Amino acid sequence: MERADAVRYWDKVYAERPAPADPQPNDRLVETATALPPGDALDLGCGGGGDALWLARRGWQVTALDVSAVATKRLAQLARSRGLSDRVTAQQHDVRDSLPERQFDLVTAHYFHTPYAQDRTAILRSAAHLLRQGGRILVVDHGSTAPWSWNQDPDVRYPSPQEVAALMRLSPAGWTVERADAPHRTAVGPDGRTAEVVDHVLLIRRIQ
Ligand SMILES: C[S@@+](CC[C@H](N)C(=O)[O-])C[C@H]1O[C@@H](n2cnc3c(N)ncnc32)[C@H](O)[C@@H]1O
Repeated sequence: MERADAVRYWDKVYAERPAPADPQPNDRLVETATALPPGDALDLGCGGGGDALWLARRGWQVTALDVSAVATKRLAQLARSRGLSDRVTAQQHDVRDSLPERQFDLVTAHYFHTPYAQDRTAILRSAAHLLRQGGRILVVDHGSTAPWSWNQDPDVRYPSPQEVAALMRLSPAGWTVERADAPHRTAVGPDGRTAEVVDHVLLIRRIQ
């Protein structure tokens, strides 16, 4: 999809959705990052911004990127209203074009899916190269179809975290997989419905 069409697509998604007053972090981020010392974090496809705000509140310096200007403007406003502007840099940016030219201690990509094709694993691979030694990339993907999901194709196949790791083609000399599993959780849909869903969780650490 062309850049401008991707912006239009995601801006419409967010503009049609009421802006949550207090966006919450994703469960897998809380599970993973609560024990980590704060540092520099990069949130790929930050969406509503619950993850970026949670990290910033815990002392992280967060660069939050999203192709949707509606999403990043909302996040910047939320960060301002919470006194977190100095910790959250929310930027409208298509990460297919480039990534920040600096290093991070944590890269997160939660449900970084699109209903159109894009070379996601190339982006994740590049992002893994931005990690400092000891830093981690957390990729949390859908592992099942929620009733409110845009894709209700019964034949849809969700790549396993091991398959995503293999597609990222990171050298075992430089990166090690710390977690690759498929836990269940109760998710809440946009209309308030709940359903049991599966996450595909991949956590990779840069070792040198
Ligand atoms: C399914 S949403 C997930 C949002 C958020 N991470 C969450 O957990 O709710 C996917 C997000 O990725 C963003 N996105 C998709 N492709 C992108 C790209 N190439 N560059 C930057 N953001 C992108 C979309 O705008 C959208 O906000």
